[in-house]
Amino acid sequence: MSERIYLDYNATTPVDPRVLEKMLPYFTEVFGNAASNDHDFGLEAKRAVDNARAEIAKTMNARPDEIIFTSGATESDNIALLGVAEKYAHKGNHIITCVTEHKGILDCCQRLEEMGKQVTYLPVDEFGRVNPDDVRQAITPHTILISLMAANNEIGTIAPLAEIGTIAAENKTLFHTDATQAFGHIPLDVQAMNIHIMSISAHKLYGPKGIGALYRRRSSPRVQLSPVIYGGGHERGLRSGTLNVPGIVGFGEAARLARREMTVESARFHSWTEQIHGRLQMALGNVQLNGHPTERLPHNLNVSIPGLKARALIPQLKNIAIATGSACTSAKVEPSHVIEALGFGSERAHNAIRISVGRFTTDDQIETATERIIEVVRELRAINIITAP
Ligand SMILES: Cc1ncc(COP(=O)(O)O)c(C=O)c1O
Repeated sequence: MSERIYLDYNATTPVDPRVLEKMLPYFTEVFGNAASNDHDFGLEAKRAVDNARAEIAKTMNARPDEIIFTSGATESDNIALLGVAEKYAHKGNHIITCVTEHKGILDCCQRLEEMGKQVTYLPVDEFGRVNPDDVRQAITPHTILISLMAANNEIGTIAPLAEIGTIAAENKTLFHTDATQAFGHIPLDVQAMNIHIMSISAHKLYGPKGIGALYRRRSSPRVQLSPVIYGGGHERGLRSGTLNVPGIVGFGEAARLARREMTVESARFHSWTEQIHGRLQMALGNVQLNGHPTERLPHNLNVSIPGLKARALIPQLKNIAIATGSACTSAKVEPSHVIEALGFGSERAHNAIRISVGRFTTDDQIETATERIIEVVRELRAINIITAP
């Protein structure tokens, strides 16, 4: 069997061996409860948590006491949206978001609407970008929160965060960003970008699954949130539950490594995604890029091959793991809401494939995978499973 090639780093990343090595002692040796400050076992665990908190804070230019550990970005999104909606109910009931957000945001917004809140879903342009002027115009005296993702998980488009942050600040509205795909991959500065609340997750940057964080600003302005989980009052009362110390240690190390390696890695990833795109374009003709040509995560490439459904192509690739732009619900295949939102019709969404590279990708893998995709598309075209463009 030929080597398996993983090109789905936007879905999740393997744990970096250096991260794992840091985590291991915290399962068996330093196993104390970080909240048990009566003895060394607990204090050692707390020190490790403090250290990780500082690393994560540093990576986004925040203060360590502004980091709340959660189980992942989905939970962080829930605390951000439900927490603001409840805490600021006396100020207003209107939230602004956008149509291409992750389910973690969209499903929370749906719940908020059921609870009587008003949600504005902004459209995006053909590259998947929200227009900052639309944000400005959507603000009403009742707006309490703008929640817009930092980088899209399907097409990689990066939002104009600093511009949106300025608009939020000018209008004294809170700004939350789901930065799950961006944190550790592109520079983020919560001060410079006027971000008040931010969701992140370790498993997108070579840390373990099941651990995430929420940045919550504590001054200018001091953001208040209602918790979603009640209990022992951990994490400043915002997220009760015994801390996942090994996960947190891993997250901290993953953030530290990302800070150190981001610039060099980004250049390598960008050259690979450009190479794949160029090669596919040359060999297959009209390949449509989904996402922004330049304001895009360097490790993401999402393209549609006209006439060829991703669901026909991907199984034929056998040992090459790439993603489709659609999701199977119980009854049928739903085209991606993100690619549909670009305005090119559902056909393009059904044809979308997402290729995402990462730290453990090699030149050879890029070469092999690209050639295999080209070969399979040609085979499928030849046997007329698809109509050529
Ligand atoms: C943009 C975005 N938000 C939220 C999530 C959910 O993150 P987690 O798996 O940590 O709950 C993801 C994961 O795919 C994501 O890409």
